[in-house]
Amino acid sequence: MRILAVETSCDETAAAIVSKEPGEQLAIIETSIVASQVPLHQKYGGVYPEVASREHVRQILPIISEALELPMSHPNRLPDFSAKNIDYLAVTHGPGLIGSLLVGTQTMAALSMATGIPLLQVNHLAGHIYASFIDNSSFRISEASEKSRRDLSQARDDVPQFPLMALVVSGGHSMLIYMESHHTYQLLGQTRDDAVGEAFDKVAKLLGLPYPGGPQISKLATQGDREARYFPIGLEKEDTLDFSFSGLKTAVLREVQNKDLTPTQKANIAASFERAAIEALLTKTAKALNQFPVKDFILGGGVAANSYLRDRLASLLAYRSPAVTFHVPPINLCTDNAAVIGAAAAFSTLTPTEPSQLQTFARLPLV
Ligand code: KG4
Ligand code: ZN
Repeated sequence: MRILAVETSCDETAAAIVSKEPGEQLAIIETSIVASQVPLHQKYGGVYPEVASREHVRQILPIISEALELPMSHPNRLPDFSAKNIDYLAVTHGPGLIGSLLVGTQTMAALSMATGIPLLQVNHLAGHIYASFIDNSSFRISEASEKSRRDLSQARDDVPQFPLMALVVSGGHSMLIYMESHHTYQLLGQTRDDAVGEAFDKVAKLLGLPYPGGPQISKLATQGDREARYFPIGLEKEDTLDFSFSGLKTAVLREVQNKDLTPTQKANIAASFERAAIEALLTKTAKALNQFPVKDFILGGGVAANSYLRDRLASLLAYRSPAVTFHVPPINLCTDNAAVIGAAAAFSTLTPTEPSQLQTFARLPLV
């Protein structure tokens, strides 16, 4: 089965071809193209929604053509891809920026109508979980774009086993999820205010670092002292699996407001902030593992690219739950891309949506 998947929920225009053989427990990426809009949004210090939508409109057809490995004969027309043997089309229909999502959903609905290929709708958050159901060792590197080619060194072929727990951490979400089988989700805890990625981005802004702030903070933190400042760990003592990051953000604001900080002070703040943010994720993960025994653990979402989080979570699991296998995708499958959307579709019930009935949602719970 081959799926052409598209993702446009935020500021990356992405298309991929993913395949899965019947009975196989991992999907394979045939091609994955990601056009990032980061340079466009940098001058605004964050994603400018209208600019994002307009850029998706400009990029969507060339990116789909690139994923199909077919040159466009006309700048605004897709080539004939009937020979490509695509069985399904898949598209992110939420959650995300509505103007961005609509470019992907409307393009794919039109393609489905024009070609008769059935259309599958995918929740973006499921994509972040299903990044761990991809056999990265099979990625045909020669066919990947420059961006997708990065960080593919971490080949892995282990299959996540159920029941499993997933920690999904991105710019819009922070959640702990329990899964007994494919696409059955029990939400154990989620943020009550800011997402952890959002906190990274806001703190980066306070320290004068460019957007997106997560990787910048992470880099600066390696030069700082994690114990230099005390920042609060959200809901640390409370009997809940929920997260909170707004108090941490405010504490950093108080620390930097009206101060002329030296580079060392900035690095110390970044390091102390990162420690507190990651500690909050680890505290609730440890608590959840006590309450919900699982076989495997999946980390996913843009913040899963954070090496301090990857290392600390790996140590926590090795120490507390050595029988639990830890799955974390390579960096390029943590941040937004279409391959993970194709993978999520591949493990679904493959129930098509009538293209004219496809709905797009800014908010969309994972159910
Ligand atoms: O999943 P994603 O690409 O988009 C959303 O679905 O939101 O996640 C983007 C988020 C941004 O907040 C970005 O700052 C954060 O992931 N991020 C990181 C790192 N790389 C990306 N946060 C911390 N450390 C990183 N290395
Ligand atoms: Zn995402």
